Amino acid sequence: MSAPRVDAARIAEHVERLADKHPPIDPSSADYAVRDPAAVRARFGGALDYMARVEMEVERNVLELAVMLPDVGETDRRFYAEVWGPQEEQHGVLLDTLGQHLGMPPVVANTGDVPARVRVLGALAHLSPVHEVIRLLYYLTGAATEKAAMMAYTAMSEGLGAMGEDAVRRTVVDAIKVQEPGHFAFYRLSAQEMVQSGVLAPWQMHLARVLRSKAYSLVGAKTAEQRAGFGGVIVELGLDADIERSARDVSRLETQLLWAHEKGLEVPGYALKAFRDAAAGYRERRLGQALAA
Ligand SMILES: [Fe+2]
Ligand SMILES: [Fe+2]
Repeated sequence: MSAPRVDAARIAEHVERLADKHPPIDPSSADYAVRDPAAVRARFGGALDYMARVEMEVERNVLELAVMLPDVGETDRRFYAEVWGPQEEQHGVLLDTLGQHLGMPPVVANTGDVPARVRVLGALAHLSPVHEVIRLLYYLTGAATEKAAMMAYTAMSEGLGAMGEDAVRRTVVDAIKVQEPGHFAFYRLSAQEMVQSGVLAPWQMHLARVLRSKAYSLVGAKTAEQRAGFGGVIVELGLDADIERSARDVSRLETQLLWAHEKGLEVPGYALKAFRDAAAGYRERRLGQALAA
């Protein structure tokens, strides 16, 4: 593999740099002045609601991580509990406040219940070979999630710019957007370090592939309703114009690390299917609503 070698010290430094450079956004720095709230709501309401919920549910994700990865090292714990978690929670607060300025109801987020499937994983993770497989999947899921967030905020920023909504573009969306690449880099470096250092035996890599293919899920999209919501983000933000490319960009790291032996594979089939199904679910729901109106 041609990626430069990554070691644990470099990842720890990266986390400290993020902590220094990116404190959680100060709520008083946001300017919610919107020229045409109805137009912004019509164009970005669905995407905004979805992104706000996912960012707020990070509070629950932190609880899940403690259950799912009981033997996690200090760098991982420092990242999710003290750097990433507080930043993302603030992203949720800003987006939710923006939505309310646009006349939308407050976001309904599940920030407390650790689901049964996470508890099952947590029980299995007490076996250390399984713990390491779950840790790799955590990094891959994190990388895909952060990449999707980067694409969504880029599209939202461009759209708000085109509408002349510069205050919220700059002080809300761009302020959030600038914090996401550092999260992505953490997951990328951590996954690369695991694979390069060979901590996983071939059977563990195989298990990681099986679990990823069978249990691939889009961020924050556990139910059919939520999957259609993710489809709304894709469609409203124009990421479905070239949906293969969107799925490929989001999945690039796992394509390289998990599926390197499948020469020439551009995007794992399960990821492309999840993107297509989400967009189709959103269109179906929208059609249903139009017919019922
Ligand atoms: Fe975020
Ligand atoms: Fe993030």
